[in-house]
Amino acid sequence: MDNEITIAIVGGTGNLGSALALRLARPGVKVMIGSRDAEKARTAVESLKKVLGAVKIEGKVNREAVREAEFAVIAVPYEGHATIVEDLRGQVAGKIVIDAVVPLRKGRPFVPPAGSALLEAERILEGEAPVVGALHNISAVDLQAPDAPLGDVLVCGDDESAKQKVMEIIHRIGARTFDAGPSANAYIVEGLTGVLIYLNRKYKSKHASVKITGIGE
Ligand SMILES: NC(=O)c1ccc[n+]([C@@H]2O[C@H](COP(=O)([O-])OP(=O)(O)OC[C@H]3O[C@@H](n4cnc5c(N)ncnc54)[C@H](OP(=O)(O)O)[C@@H]3O)[C@@H](O)[C@H]2O)c1
Repeated sequence: MDNEITIAIVGGTGNLGSALALRLARPGVKVMIGSRDAEKARTAVESLKKVLGAVKIEGKVNREAVREAEFAVIAVPYEGHATIVEDLRGQVAGKIVIDAVVPLRKGRPFVPPAGSALLEAERILEGEAPVVGALHNISAVDLQAPDAPLGDVLVCGDDESAKQKVMEIIHRIGARTFDAGPSANAYIVEGLTGVLIYLNRKYKSKHASVKITGIGE
């Protein structure tokens, strides 16, 4: 994959989105920070540039951010997920959607009517673009610290080629990836984050994450 890819982050002003932007922009990926509010997106970009210096990063409203990108990461709370994905319809043909959303209610995971956030996005987009689930179990706290080791990323989806491209991108932020199977597996990977949130509370941590052992050793 060439270095000139552009990745839009829908909800890029938030915890996960801005931390992911830091990790992507550092090695030279062009990042579009998306927000429901253009001014908020530009403010987030200014803050990121203070940390990163002269990097390729811009801020726009979500739809415009996605228009200019090959990949669109969805990084909004679950309550905004369906509306945001509906808003992207007609805008993502030829692109790959990366869904990082975890269905949570008061910090607890639940399985939404579609079966998972990923299946919900697929249903809304009706094949306009492949949807790949990834980054659910990664910690924004770790992403934010440039040298912090990251947890492993379980990647699922039904489009094998899109899944491969997403795994290549995730390698750029310094994480190992594992093909975690088809879209039907997404509810497990999404739900695992609910367990990580519990572990953080129980063990007074902020960045519990997942490590796979027994493969490639
Ligand atoms: N934080 C983590 O460590 C982490 C790790 C893995 C996965 N995730 C998942 O990633 C997603 C984002 O998490 P986060 O912690 O970054 O969330 P967040 O900071 O609360 O929100 C992210 C951004 O989403 C937008 N947003 C908020 N409510 C919205 C709504 N109702 N509709 C549309 N957009 C809305 C806001 O951007 P604007 O106001 O600028 O539009 C906000 O800055 C969640 O689904 C979470 O479960 C988080």
